[in-house]
Amino acid sequence: MVKPTRHIASINDLSKTEITGIFDLAQTYLDTLHDPILPYRVARSCDAASGAVLATLFYEPSTRTRLSFESAMLRMGGRVISSADSGASSAAKGESLADTVRVVSNYADVIVVRHPRDGAARLAADYCSVPVINGGDGSHEHPTQTLCDLFTLNKRNSSFKNLNVAISGDLRGSRTIHSLVYALARFGANIILMPAKGLELPSHVFNRLRDEMHCRMTPAQSENGHASIDALYVTANAPHQLSLIPEGVDIHVRMTSRVDAVYVTRFQKERSGGKIENTYPTVNAEFLSDAKYSNASVMHPLPRVGELDQSMDTDKRATYFEQAAYGVPIRMALISALLGLQNNHLLKSYDGGFPSSKALSIDQHLDAGIQCQNANCIVHDTLEQPYVRSKFSLISSVPERSKLRCVYCETDIEHFVVGNVETRKFTANVAQINAATSRQLKQFVFFKDDQAALARDYRSGDPLNAGR
Ligand code: NCD
Repeated sequence: MVKPTRHIASINDLSKTEITGIFDLAQTYLDTLHDPILPYRVARSCDAASGAVLATLFYEPSTRTRLSFESAMLRMGGRVISSADSGASSAAKGESLADTVRVVSNYADVIVVRHPRDGAARLAADYCSVPVINGGDGSHEHPTQTLCDLFTLNKRNSSFKNLNVAISGDLRGSRTIHSLVYALARFGANIILMPAKGLELPSHVFNRLRDEMHCRMTPAQSENGHASIDALYVTANAPHQLSLIPEGVDIHVRMTSRVDAVYVTRFQKERSGGKIENTYPTVNAEFLSDAKYSNASVMHPLPRVGELDQSMDTDKRATYFEQAAYGVPIRMALISALLGLQNNHLLKSYDGGFPSSKALSIDQHLDAGIQCQNANCIVHDTLEQPYVRSKFSLISSVPERSKLRCVYCETDIEHFVVGNVETRKFTANVAQINAATSRQLKQFVFFKDDQAALARDYRSGDPLNAGR
């Protein structure tokens, strides 16, 4: 039996209030336990988590995430068990993640999972009776890195609102960026995208920023050797304010006259077949000599492999080692919040561990019809197939562009058809689903396209009407 508990699979599993609550608690840990010379370094321990056990279950290489989680737990007087080499665990014998977390949840009070498959953390959460924290799942998300990134930004700026944050490098494969852009958008920062050519933000992330997080896009440009720059203008959770921006104002110029932070990332070669087709942007003193970067914090989730010049290390704008140091107090605060240590009630609790979505949820057997189209999604992992289903949310924030979002990896499917198992009719007109009763909703089955529906003996027509 799986006991409902809170899990962090995405940065969007935390409300803004909860995120700022975590920052306050992290600051309290820093205030009380910091190194007298280095204020960002936790140097002493407390007993806040004494008796508690943290498990790190890592199926991919890691230095910062795993060790800072472990350090955080040890600094709070807790204990740590670690599976850092999947070759030395039962995964090598063919054990699924779903079974592993069910076992490990009886050994630990909180589990951090890192996995090469998108959506792995969400699957683990489905089978885990203690909190699961996503330590990075494929190219999907890395929510705790984002907490460190935001905490660093917060230290150097009075507010996130209208902060101009430029993001450079592999925007397609960097999970840290996907969590970060969602959070920046939700807090009302402006995001300047500086992708390496061919490594642009995935379209489902871009569209979600536009349709659900009220980002307004300005046109792409070319600058400083970067292939393209798209600027997104974000109106902090107040879509109606969009109309308050007068037509014709050149928002791109206005917002890029001052860049507050440059977030650099490495090419994620492990997720791109190892080859880069175009030149990769490097950030060095020359790039940062432009006046608009004069006060920009230079950030990087690390490791760096050439895209951020070492000569920057002594520059006062360099913040990446401090950013990595905040991994300890931030993760102390997150563990404390999830375990409710010292009676803190920072996090709300939800049935099932996740806030219930307002979207219609679709849950069909893997063989029933449409499957997630992201080849790296955990649903396609043969080891996990007995434990997953085709689960989607029907996202209708823009009704004429309704889409199916995979519950695990959150990739969207924009084109699909819906059939009714009783009437055996299917349609591409998804708007019709909105007219369905809850009994009828259970009868729907989703297919990739007309051919897939026809192959299952469905006929084109109104799925709610057996006659026509
Ligand atoms: C990142 C990761 O694993 O996604 N590293 C980290 O956790 N700080 C970034 C990277 O590997 O490039």
